[in-house]
Amino acid sequence: MYKIVKQQRLNSAVVSIEVEAPYVARKCEPGQFVIVRVDPDGERIPLTIADFDRAGNTITLIYQELGYSTKRLSTKAVGDELQDVAGPLGQAAELRKTAKVLGIGGGVGAAPLYPQLKKLADLGSQVDVILGGRSAELVILANEFRAFARQVTIATDDGSLGLKGTVVDALLRKVRDENYNRVIAIGPLPMMRAVVEHTKRLEIPTMVSLNPIMIDGTGMCGGCRVTVGGATKFACVDGPDFDGFQVNFDECIRRQLMYRQQERRFEQEHPCRIGWEGTKSC
Ligand SMILES: Cc1cc2nc3c(=O)[nH]c(=O)nc-3n(C[C@H](O)[C@H](O)[C@H](O)COP(=O)(O)OP(=O)(O)OC[C@H]3O[C@@H](n4cnc5c(N)ncnc54)[C@H](O)[C@@H]3O)c2cc1C
Ligand code: FES
Repeated sequence: MYKIVKQQRLNSAVVSIEVEAPYVARKCEPGQFVIVRVDPDGERIPLTIADFDRAGNTITLIYQELGYSTKRLSTKAVGDELQDVAGPLGQAAELRKTAKVLGIGGGVGAAPLYPQLKKLADLGSQVDVILGGRSAELVILANEFRAFARQVTIATDDGSLGLKGTVVDALLRKVRDENYNRVIAIGPLPMMRAVVEHTKRLEIPTMVSLNPIMIDGTGMCGGCRVTVGGATKFACVDGPDFDGFQVNFDECIRRQLMYRQQERRFEQEHPCRIGWEGTKSC
């Protein structure tokens, strides 16, 4: 069992938890993820390892409450235990010292971006960051990035914080003055697709992190199939990070929406009536 030792609400929909997981903490690297089951009959939830503390035997997970399982995860409190935390899964991101790196995090995508940029900064790379959200409240981890990044630019759709516009608008402004050697973009698929459309034209190599539906997380079920450079890949074992120029985003978006109806139906049949402070069960 995996005890929650810290819990912090980052905004109305995003929660950070630190979980005791000694074997995962010992081996994990930026870019890898775990599959969590909240309780014995729980669904499997893939979540990126946002940070880890090898000495303290813990990992940090930052998740957005989207549907049944992530809301169920929020019913747990500090001291409670999770049924499973399986991992580390996936390939570690290929990170080496790079002169100028630009990280782009959309919404909760800032969480998986954080460990990768932190490592690149530790390796001596100059790191700039763009964080985006629909409004100020939805921009997370800005102060954590400021601890090592040279510049943190914020873009909000409604202009409530930083530039008014999307992360793509911020990207287009930044590349006017800076020559980046590499971009890492993590966020919703349409955001990553839009970033890649521009970085391809600008010839800036761009890595993206894909989050297709995953079931086993070990390359057995085929659920996370994606097409990269015309070849079939399984994001759980070959990724989740891929060369953005090679990803077939249209297919990814189509496949991610495949179970939308069933998810909606399940949510309606099992409405979660839990407030953050609440104690009722799902
Ligand atoms: C490698 C990887 C890393 C991820 N890291 C994070 C993270 O750090 N933080 C975070 O908030 N989210 C992350 N996700 C997405 C997260 O797993 C889903 O939001 C979660 O499973 C939703 O479950 P739900 O029951 O709450 O919502 P549901 O209502 O079941 O689903 C809501 C949406 O989440 C996606 N989803 C549902 N089930 C899965 C699944 N088994 N695998 C992948 N996506 C699913 C679908 O797009 C779906 O439309 C990651 C996904 C992958 C594949
Ligand atoms: S999740 Fe089953 S093959 Fe990747």
